Amino acid sequence: MSTRNATDVFSEWALIDRDEGMESGHAKSVNEMLNIVIPMLKKPFSAIDVGCGNGWVCRKLQAYENCSKVVGIDGSSEMIAKAKQKGTGEFHLSTLPGWKPSQKFDLIHSMEFLYYLKEPLEMLKILFNEWLEDRGVLIAGVDHYLENIASHDWPKSLNVHMTTLSEEQWKQGMINAGFIDVETRRVGIKSGFVGTLAIFGRKP
Ligand SMILES: C[S@@+](CC[C@H](N)C(=O)[O-])C[C@H]1O[C@@H](n2cnc3c(N)ncnc32)[C@H](O)[C@@H]1O
Repeated sequence: MSTRNATDVFSEWALIDRDEGMESGHAKSVNEMLNIVIPMLKKPFSAIDVGCGNGWVCRKLQAYENCSKVVGIDGSSEMIAKAKQKGTGEFHLSTLPGWKPSQKFDLIHSMEFLYYLKEPLEMLKILFNEWLEDRGVLIAGVDHYLENIASHDWPKSLNVHMTTLSEEQWKQGMINAGFIDVETRRVGIKSGFVGTLAIFGRKP
């Protein structure tokens, strides 16, 4: 049986409100990621959330007084419909990597999106070259990675493609894309969960 498109699966999830479970499940990791990255940004800053789901991180970013603009992009029609219902931000429906924003951003944020791509490290290069302002920062969180053994059966159980990379491969991918000050950290650690791998770095 061929694998399903992740965006179709997540549209089904949105229709049965499983986006809300992701929102609460990912909140601890995202809060820690934002605590890392917000102090690294110039003021005011613009931001984009890549694979934004129902737009909850965009709404969180909008609440920062120094945030001048927030955009969300996702390939699931039902997720984007929900994002538009729930908030006032700018949301785009498109499958990546086949879309590019009309401006560059000071912050690129992404939670639980990159590994659904066949070539996530190529996407890092595109984000670096075409989406990020000079001195801007990218932070991406992934729960499916080589060191998180509990995540290894997710592609099979969801019947969706996932690219499984190690912490070192993500880090090297960031460096190869051109990022400086690249770091990885485990965030959102809780009982029975080794944590989200947060990967971040700056454009010179
Ligand atoms: C695990 S969900 C995470 C959503 C959100 N970031 C959150 O934390 O709740 C992954 C999201 O990535 C989107 N996605 C997966 N592959 C995509 C692609 N190729 N292009 C655009 N969006 C994609 C899905 O539609 C889904 O909303």
